[in-house]
Parts: sequence; C-alpha cells; structure tokens
Amino acid sequence: MHTTATQAISLTDDRPPYLYPPYRSTLIRAPKRPLILLPHRLSELTGPVFGDGQIGPLDHDLTRQHAGEPLGERMIVTGRVLDSDGRPVRNTLVEVWQTNAAGRYAHRVDQHPAPLDPNFTGAGRCLTDHEGRYRFVTIKPGAYPWKNHTNAWRPAHIHFSVFGTAFIHRLVTQMYFPGDPLLAHDPILQSIPSLAGRDRLVAAFDLSVTEPEWALGYRWDIVLRGPGTTPVED
Ligand SMILES: [Fe+2]
Repeated sequence: MHTTATQAISLTDDRPPYLYPPYRSTLIRAPKRPLILLPHRLSELTGPVFGDGQIGPLDHDLTRQHAGEPLGERMIVTGRVLDSDGRPVRNTLVEVWQTNAAGRYAHRVDQHPAPLDPNFTGAGRCLTDHEGRYRFVTIKPGAYPWKNHTNAWRPAHIHFSVFGTAFIHRLVTQMYFPGDPLLAHDPILQSIPSLAGRDRLVAAFDLSVTEPEWALGYRWDIVLRGPGTTPVED
C-alpha cells in the first residue's frame, strides 16, 4: 500500500545507507572513513539563493518549453513542502528533472537507444507558495535501462531538489509512481531500509488534481523533518 504525499519524508530512520552493494555505484562512492563535519562559514550561509526574479512564468510547465507539445501522457504533479509539525515551507525553490516519455534524458551522457523528443527537455522549477505548495505540468517519464546489473531498469521517476535558505541547504530525492512493477526490483528505492520510507517516495494518484480532458494528476508531499520525513539522497 502506498502512502499519500501528506504522509511523506524523514531523514533519520529512512535514510538509505551509504553502502548498499546491490546499488553498485555505492561500492565506489561510499565513504571508507568516518565523516568529518565541516563548519559552515559566512560564505556558505549567505551565498546567493534564487528569488522570484529568476523564475520564468513557464518554468513550472515542462510541456510548453518548445514550439510543439511533447509526446506522452500529460500530467500534473503537485504537493506541499512541509517542515516538522506540518508547517509549510514557503517561497522555496523546487526543481525537477526527468526523462521523456520514451525513458531518455536530453543529456549527452544518456545514449540508450530510445528516441529524443525535440519538444521536451525535462527540467523545470518553481517556488512554493504561502501554503508550501508546488505544481508542475509535465508528461509521465519512461523507465530506462541503467546497467547496474543484468537487465536492470529504473522505474519511472522524477528527480526533485529542494533548496533551503542557502545553497548548502539542498535536498535531492526521487518521486515514483503507484503500481509500477519495477519498484520492487529497483536497488535505489530498495536501499531505503523501511517499507514506510519507500512508500513515502511514491506519489498518490489524485482525481482532484486531474484536469478533465487534459491531464492526469498526482500528489506528493515532501516532508523535511520530523516523523514522516521524506527519504533523501546524501
Ligand atoms: Fe533518473
């Protein structure tokens, strides 16, 4: 059973371990010595952050960034960014990136043999409103192979980044789709220790978010602290 966005993310119990051998890259990048806490100095804490001026009116709509419409299943993804006790995190930058409907990123590193879509770049951003709400219009991303192991396929997902009050305050995670048969086979999702933590990364299909004759709707909240925190990537 999948939870809804309001039951979302925690940084303590559900943090994936640095080393999770089925997720092969962790064998290379997991720290081999104890971590050192670096003090935050003035430049880290007072560096520039995004504000309203940098966000374009269509930056949240990934289907309107080119001359034509992208191929794929049009959808709306919305939810709230919440602090502990359900307090909204207002005016914070939320960024997303994803594949096109065929499962290919518009990036030179992605060379797997699925077609690029000239009308889809796959990146968007917006600021949360007074209620901590974000909203994106996009198309459903496709699954893609990733060579982690034989016949390895990533489930459809959208990468999310949430900035805090400084550039060093940034959380990165992934949102998945309910009912995807690849979820059980994905070492990245399965590296999150608890079922509850994994479920917090799965959006809920929500009829109230859909727009009739236009787009499907998914709801997914990001909880930054406290019980129900959304698992994030280190
Ligand atoms: Fe990805």
